[in-house]
Amino acid sequence: MLQLVNWLKSSTSTIVLTGAGMSTESGIPDFRSQSGWWNKIDPRTVATVEALENHYALFHDFYSYRIQSLEKYTPHEGHYILGQWENKGVLDCVATQNVDGFHQLAGNRKVNELHGTIKTIRCHSCNQPATLSEFLNKEVCKHCSGKLRPNVVLFGETLPEHSWMDSLNRIRRADLVIVIGTSLEIYPVSQLPVMTEGKKVYVNLDIHDHARFDLMIKGKAKEILKLVNNIL
Ligand code: APR
Ligand code: ZN
Repeated sequence: MLQLVNWLKSSTSTIVLTGAGMSTESGIPDFRSQSGWWNKIDPRTVATVEALENHYALFHDFYSYRIQSLEKYTPHEGHYILGQWENKGVLDCVATQNVDGFHQLAGNRKVNELHGTIKTIRCHSCNQPATLSEFLNKEVCKHCSGKLRPNVVLFGETLPEHSWMDSLNRIRRADLVIVIGTSLEIYPVSQLPVMTEGKKVYVNLDIHDHARFDLMIKGKAKEILKLVNNIL
């Protein structure tokens, strides 16, 4: 832990990369843990363009449930610590795979949502924006009667160009990259940590054999961030 604090203090550019494990302590399930989404439902049936186009009812149920359940959850202390770190100039940017908007709610202004967001809706056919209530009410696009969908990146879709390139460029230049709460199983985000010349730290409940890290801290995101913040 002290090693991380020293690197944070001496770093002139720190990037944090988060995944679903950053929000489990807020109550939001992750995907590949025992209690994760993909242990309950096959992602191909809900999180693909094929599902959206051919099984819209299941697709809609899955995403409207996740949108509505977001109202029950709030960012936890670990999110707010990252927001404070940005304010104090300790970190430059959060690149996240999460679509819950919790980093922004907790005060981070420089957030790259690599897998999009569940908080805004568009038409899948004409890309015109639509409202959350139109999506939740199963309405069709008022411009072309197309299917409505959240602005999340579905499996097989390309990541938002700006978010990806900005994150890649920042990570390349960073002298510290802290990866929190992700299995790093999904390409291309899984490749980001090795793109940096700087120090790489992995904070996760399950420490996989990610030999490419300079430091691996096994533990819960909120607890580790509180510990580090207390001695920073
Ligand atoms: N603190 C630290 N780590 C945690 C915590 C926690 N409180 N809770 C869970 N974890 C760890 C799990 O052990 C797991 O290794 O976080 C990781 C979450 O991994 P995934 O469930 O695979 O989530 P993520 O890596 O974000 O998935 C990437 O896959 O399905 C797609 O679009 C989806 O963005 C998602 C992408
Ligand atoms: Zn449309």
